[in-house]
Amino acid sequence: MIDQRNDTVVLGFPDYSVQARRFAAAAAVPYAEIAIHAFPDGESLVKLPADIAEHVVLCRTLTDANNRLIELELAMATARNQGAKRLTLVAPYLCYMRQDKAFHPGEAVSQRIIGELLARRLDAIVTVDPHLHRVSRLEDAVPIRRTLATTATGLMADWVKARGGDPLILGPDDESAKWVSQIASAGDRGYFVAHKERRGDRDVRIALPDADFDGRDVVLADDVASTGHTLAEASRQVLERGAASVVVLVTHALFAEGALANLRSAGVADIVSTDSIPHPSNRLHIDQLLASALHEVWSPTAESG
Ligand code: R5P
Repeated sequence: MIDQRNDTVVLGFPDYSVQARRFAAAAAVPYAEIAIHAFPDGESLVKLPADIAEHVVLCRTLTDANNRLIELELAMATARNQGAKRLTLVAPYLCYMRQDKAFHPGEAVSQRIIGELLARRLDAIVTVDPHLHRVSRLEDAVPIRRTLATTATGLMADWVKARGGDPLILGPDDESAKWVSQIASAGDRGYFVAHKERRGDRDVRIALPDADFDGRDVVLADDVASTGHTLAEASRQVLERGAASVVVLVTHALFAEGALANLRSAGVADIVSTDSIPHPSNRLHIDQLLASALHEVWSPTAESG
């Protein structure tokens, strides 16, 4: 259980301060911030408050993962050294989830390796729309007893409803089916899913489903936009097939360099994301989702295995 009086603290990092404070307020848990000093050689000095609660909830979104994972590891170890008895990670974006198998001999299966790294320190983890595909359960990717993957699809469905009209909901690839089906069913709508073949980081081929796009406003939804090529290619094709407009809806606005320009040049009229990753396209706040998930993951019935 979460004790909101004095046995729990949310510790945030400077790169997600606004959002982590909002989450702590929604969870009715005190907030404190970890200080990071970057040494000239690129190493990090990580400093936690001197006194910490028995239950430490670290809130860190794991973009720029190669740097942030190390700082997180330093923070987790230090929290334990300072006496934390329970350690929860709230990672709105959970990194390294897409490489869930070795596609070629010798490749690291990053999902499992990073999952095990986190599991060594943690008692519980909460995240939003993790990219789970061949491995379908979060507890299989991050092997600990308390795991909770919440979803932003309800917020997205509300946004679609508030926007009005009768949009056609489209997922750009097979893996997006679970998200678009949830968005569509929450709004009592139908949906379509395209098929994608990835030939390289910035080279994807999309085959649209057999749907009538003519004159339709299309909402293209996915969990992650990285280079934007997946969504851009889908947008280009639906506009060629007569769609009236395309908007993009994503949980995690990774948006690597050039992604926004890519989407705009493919005719995307609007881009909406959650604040799991700080970005100018953020319009959906996940603080309440995270707060509910934190309480749920520590409920007596939430323990698995
Ligand atoms: C993978 O299947 C994900 O759901 C996204 O479709 C993918 O990561 C998007 O990558 P990009 O924006 O680079 O095409």
